[in-house]
Amino acid sequence: MVDVVSLFSGSGGSDAGVIEAGFDVVMANDRLAYARDVYQANLPETNYIHGNIEKIHDFPSASLLIGCYPCQGFSQGGVRDPSRKINRLYLEFARALKKIQPKAFVVENVSGMMRKNFRHLLKDQVDAFTREGYEVRVGVLNASDFGVAQDRKRIFMVGISQGFGVDFRFPNPSHGDGTGQPKLTIRKAIGHLPEWPEGEFYDHGFHWYYLSRNRRRNWDEQSKTIVANPRHMPLHPNSPELVKHADDDWRFADERRARRFSYREAASLQGLGNLTFPETSHKSLNRCYEVVGNAVPPQLFKAIVESIPDIW
Ligand SMILES: C[S@@+](CC[C@H](N)C(=O)[O-])C[C@H]1O[C@@H](n2cnc3c(N)ncnc32)[C@H](O)[C@@H]1O
Repeated sequence: MVDVVSLFSGSGGSDAGVIEAGFDVVMANDRLAYARDVYQANLPETNYIHGNIEKIHDFPSASLLIGCYPCQGFSQGGVRDPSRKINRLYLEFARALKKIQPKAFVVENVSGMMRKNFRHLLKDQVDAFTREGYEVRVGVLNASDFGVAQDRKRIFMVGISQGFGVDFRFPNPSHGDGTGQPKLTIRKAIGHLPEWPEGEFYDHGFHWYYLSRNRRRNWDEQSKTIVANPRHMPLHPNSPELVKHADDDWRFADERRARRFSYREAASLQGLGNLTFPETSHKSLNRCYEVVGNAVPPQLFKAIVESIPDIW
């Protein structure tokens, strides 16, 4: 089996994908306690080290290193400041790369990093990983093209040790036009779940910022991006439609009650329909949303690691 070290592992979306691909995750790490709790409840075989990556100096050997360092600095929901310290966590990933020297690595991050004012940060990352001896490829993939009922565009970096001289190609879509398989819809992903799961959705009002754009998709479409902050969670399709009144001003078409997706629905829309949320002291509504919104859909991560040529 191919050994994998996972950093910034969260609740294990990406790791579930590599495990499904037949790999063995020998170490995972995150500093968020409830992410650890969820991970261990769902993927109990992995040695999960809870704590700040900056404090970890020893890593097991592995052929593949994966990591999805945080993205608040680039994401729609975060403050877009290229100089924020959080945008420097890739250096921790580069440190682990140097130490472990795996045959390949995979990194995921938000596609905002492709924006003009962040390109230099992307270049810094590619340069740092190239200096460690990797041939690095960068691509943007949409989870909905890989059997996930959600439009979620993310940037991936795949590096393969230069010694192999192989050319990595990102996978072609497996779902959608021309593939022979329809995209998964919201209905297929969550249509069977209770209509009003009281206590499992964020039930505060809809602030002007929330209503500055359309937050709703229909049952037979793919969801808008599932985010970590529950205030920005898209609307459940049973909510009234949102109608545009003016630029940045959308209003509900009628008086019926509206609600955001619950955290369990959000998990299903992330391709994590069977995720267990253990009852630990770290559990709260916000934490459930956070670990779900941060996750990488396993199907997408699986498709990427399976596209790495057989260098193992
Ligand atoms: C985008 S999420 C990763 C999601 C994960 N790959 C998944 O699929 O579930 C980024 C994670 O980095 C963690 N993190 C941020 N700073 C960290 C640090 N200094 N040390 C360890 N983990 C950190 C956050 O708690 C968060 O869970």
